[in-house]
This record gives sequence, structure tokens and C-alpha cells, in this order.
Amino acid sequence: MAETRARQLYGGSDITQTHVLCPALCDVAEKVRPDNVMDFGCGVGYLTGLLAQISPRVKGVDKSATSIHLARNLNTNIEFSIGDFEDISHLQEQFELVTCNLVLNNVINLHRAVSAMHAILRSRGRFLFSIPHPSGWPRVCGYEDAAWFDWSKETFVTGPFKIASEPTITFEGWHAHRPLNMYIESVVKSGFLVEDVFEPMPTSAIAELFSYRWSFPRYIIVQCRKLT
Ligand SMILES: C[S@@+](CC[C@H](N)C(=O)[O-])C[C@H]1O[C@@H](n2cnc3c(N)ncnc32)[C@H](O)[C@@H]1O
Repeated sequence: MAETRARQLYGGSDITQTHVLCPALCDVAEKVRPDNVMDFGCGVGYLTGLLAQISPRVKGVDKSATSIHLARNLNTNIEFSIGDFEDISHLQEQFELVTCNLVLNNVINLHRAVSAMHAILRSRGRFLFSIPHPSGWPRVCGYEDAAWFDWSKETFVTGPFKIASEPTITFEGWHAHRPLNMYIESVVKSGFLVEDVFEPMPTSAIAELFSYRWSFPRYIIVQCRKLT
């Protein structure tokens, strides 16, 4: 899976990531101009590489050894390590910006993950994360009207993952559906202020690259600031 994801990201066929999500995350990073960045749950390091064009010191961590191996080969100038947010004691450094691109929807314990990101941030540092839109994603995945689905409850959903331009290549996976207020409660309880919330959409030129119409937001980006 990691090899295919690397090809889709670095080859530009995952238009959602390359033309919608990553540009929106990098726009925020460019405004923050951080001294150092941790891209947590970096996968094969595509966003990490873009962040390295904005900040002089960028690191990436992921629990998948295969993804980290590919990330290192594809970005020889960036330090990557294998790690789990459940154990971040190996990270001595504190960061001015921590990013989690489509990671919190892949963790079992949301609050522990958010607290771990809080712990590796400097005082007044920023935490920037993206998640599939809790309102739009059930529609995208086709379970919005399923009898078992209750949008107000945390639910672990298994099912195939695919990108729009390569619909025949699917990976079995899972994601957590959570109502937005669970994310907001978790960041506030961890000691963050929510500074901004974006619902990124493709520009009209980019929208034409998709085989379907983006009639509603599919992702949310939340920008938080560590209070102390
Ligand atoms: C959907 S992928 C996103 C990868 C990358 N951020 C991107 O946008 O291409 C989610 C990533 O989170 C990582 N991940 C999930 N749980 C993790 C954990 N507990 N600690 C570290 N990484 C984790 C997975 O290995 C996977 O690479």
C-alpha cells in the first residue's frame, strides 16, 4: 500500500492531497513561518517535503516502517523516524508547528493523540490538523443513511479506500467517524485555543480535474494554538 500511495502522491494522481489539502495546510505554514516543524503521521512524507520548503528544520514521524523507509528515500534532506504517538519520549525537541494530515481519523484514542501533540509543542506553538469532514465523509463513503450509523457517536468504520483518479485501486482500511465537537473538546481540554477552522475546496480550475463535483466540503482543517 505504501508504495502505491507514494506513487499517487509524488506522481500527482491524488489530486485531493496535491491540489487541495496540502496547499491549504502549506498556506497556513507559510503564514506561521515556523522555525521547526514536526509532521506527525507523515506517511510517505509528501507533505513533509513541502513543509521543508517553508521551514528550515522539518521532521517526520510515522509508526509504519515501510512508509518511513519510502519517505527517507524520497526526501533525503529530511530526518524521518519510526514512532508512535503513544510513546513520544524519544523526541527531545519541541516544535513551533505540529501537523497531522489525515491522521487523527486513524487513531483509536483521540484524546491521547491530541495530548501527545500538545506535549511536543513549544509554548504558544501551533497544531494544525486535517480530518475528513464528519458531515461530508459519511456521504462520500456511502454510509450516511445506513441504519447502524449515528453521526453523533464515535464509530470505527471499515471499508475500501480509493482515490478519484484511480477508482479500481482499493485498499482495505478503517477510519474513525467522530462528530466535530469531539475534536474541538479534545483540543480545548488538552490546552489549545482553536484559532481557525477551514473547509478547503478546490479552485474552479482544479475542480475540473475531478470526475465528480465537489458540491460540499469533504475535509476540515483546524488550526490550534498551545495556550501556555
Ligand atoms: C491516512 S495516513 C496519512 C499519511 C500522511 N499524513 C498523508 O497525508 O499522506 C495516516 C497515517 O497515520 C499514521 N499513524 C496512525 N496512527 C499512528 C500512531 N499511533 N503513531 C504514528 N503514526 C500513526 C499511519 O501509519 C499513516 O501513515
